[in-house]
Amino acid sequence: MKVVEFLVFLSIVLVGVVVGRDQCRFASLYTQNQLYNDPTAQQSFINNVLYWEGNFHQHLVGINAESAYTYDGHTLDYATGELHSPLHTFSAPSKESIHLGMMANALTGKTSTGFDASIFFHQSVDNSSSSDPFDNVITTLTRKITTYENFNKQFPGYGGFMPWVSVNNTGIYPLPGYWSERVPGLDNGEMIWGMYAVIQALKAYSDQAALLQRYQAYLDLLTQNAKTIFYTNPGWINAVTHIDNIYAQPTPSNYQNDCNCFLDDPYEGEMLTVYMDLYCQWDNITERDQLWINKRALLQSVEFQSPEGNITVQRGWWFSSHEQWKYLMLPYRDIDINRRVFENGERARTYFSNMNQYPGLFASVNNVTQPNTYDPNYDGATGIQEIAFESIQTNDVFTPYGSYPLFLVQDVGMSLGLAWYYNMISAPAMQNQYGSTESGSNQGDLICPLLTWDSKITTVLAMMGGAVDLNRNGLTVDNKINRFYQVIEREWTLAFPVLNGENIDFQLPPVSVPKVLNDFTTCSN
Ligand SMILES: *[C@@H]1O[C@H](CO)[C@@H](O)[C@H](O)[C@H]1NC(C)=O
Ligand SMILES: *[C@@H]1O[C@H](CO)[C@@H](O)[C@H](O)[C@H]1NC(C)=O
Ligand SMILES: *[C@@H]1O[C@H](CO)[C@@H](O)[C@H](O)[C@H]1NC(C)=O
Ligand SMILES: *[C@@H]1O[C@H](CO)[C@@H](O)[C@H](O)[C@H]1NC(C)=O
Ligand SMILES: *[C@@H]1O[C@H](CO)[C@@H](O)[C@H](O)[C@H]1NC(C)=O
Repeated sequence: MKVVEFLVFLSIVLVGVVVGRDQCRFASLYTQNQLYNDPTAQQSFINNVLYWEGNFHQHLVGINAESAYTYDGHTLDYATGELHSPLHTFSAPSKESIHLGMMANALTGKTSTGFDASIFFHQSVDNSSSSDPFDNVITTLTRKITTYENFNKQFPGYGGFMPWVSVNNTGIYPLPGYWSERVPGLDNGEMIWGMYAVIQALKAYSDQAALLQRYQAYLDLLTQNAKTIFYTNPGWINAVTHIDNIYAQPTPSNYQNDCNCFLDDPYEGEMLTVYMDLYCQWDNITERDQLWINKRALLQSVEFQSPEGNITVQRGWWFSSHEQWKYLMLPYRDIDINRRVFENGERARTYFSNMNQYPGLFASVNNVTQPNTYDPNYDGATGIQEIAFESIQTNDVFTPYGSYPLFLVQDVGMSLGLAWYYNMISAPAMQNQYGSTESGSNQGDLICPLLTWDSKITTVLAMMGGAVDLNRNGLTVDNKINRFYQVIEREWTLAFPVLNGENIDFQLPPVSVPKVLNDFTTCSN
């Protein structure tokens, strides 16, 4: 390498790694234009995201380091941005999905998008002042599988699947009340593909064979019990299953669907359907195909009317970004028709906010609260009314993770995702010492002072490319990929004979959020 080349190389490395490490309010070191156009700035920015969001991965913040289970999240002080009670001492397998997905990426050394995801794990899980991120991941994975195994020993009636739980140093316990006798399908489908990704990633380490074997054994347990717990003949998968005795070994008579509710959605709930179709025992192909036939009613084509013409999209429940979770986990976008429908949806998402002068994007999230109040409502019903099944309650509150699906758009995803993510975290008090903040008002006067896996780390995972490459490899090795492709191609081709609007440009944020509220005192310029 010549001296000049070396200096250029060095400056790229320095920009890429070092700038921003002393400044949690690092968004102000960049411009939207830079993040849209300049790969070096993108890399530097995302390394800062990994670093600062990594502060969420600490004992009694985003995880319990001893049981290595996620906590749903933690409240922040409205003015200072320091930790404030309460810690959300509960969690669910959906949070595990993201945590597992991030660890799987960290094990790859370099993600499909070219990043070192282990930066996210820079905080010690052992009370030591310094520790190696890789060791933190292995320690966390080891403690986590112990927690899973213990949960299954103590509550075998769940068949290894997990309800909403309370989390402490000794492990996880079904939340009293509803979930002490029920188990949800949707969250467990999300978690399965996170575990699956970890298994694929561990295969690269011959010295981790024992850990790999424990994760594989746990996944095998889920595979073995999935139909007994979640299947209702013909072709239905329960959204929630009631368990008569959570201390009994799984037998069919221990389970009933007492809500008449099924995972017939073409959104997050589909992840359990995909897994069961591919890995459970079925008598014949007709039986398996019935799973997909039962889902057809909700897989609908609908037109989003933009000023430049119609954009054909898949109708959303609310069209909340949360609904695109499966794109973090599975190689849907390998199938051209599915990718084109997905991208049209994201096209519409950016158009909707742009044409309405909204500074950000929408996803189910905790609502903003009045200054110095800490009692947010969860606003599930946010998204895009025109292309949703259900009523939207509000478009007053944006959340950074509204942007995560944009990162998965082919070619322009990184630029597009960063432009919107940047616009949202640049708003008042939307950055803190633990990364991004839950949500903010369009007017810039209110925030939700909270950290959660959903609102924060979905986007970090999307920046890594999700767990898609790892899971594609696994499905290929297991000889399951062709069936997956065939089903997705068939179903999306059936539902989308025509796609309008593919030539319409994705849109950028039309306005920034007014600087009304002060930044957190611990994270201001
Ligand atoms: C670290 O030390 C604190 C205080 O002694 C303790 O409460 C905590 O459980 C320890 N373990 C971890 C993993 O942080
Ligand atoms: C953890 O929670 C369970 C269930 O509430 C409880 O029985 C157990 O004593 C707790 N352990 C610790 C160390 O707090
Ligand atoms: C497929 O298997 C199901 C469940 O055992 C059975 O009811 C059905 O008759 C079978 N169909 C065909 C076409 O073999
Ligand atoms: C656009 O979509 C709307 C709503 O489905 C429809 O009424 C209209 O005819 C479409 N316009 C064109 C030009 O296709
Ligand atoms: C969200 O909170 C704000 C501020 O307290 C309140 O005005 C608004 O009505 C809430 N919106 C919803 C949908 O709960």
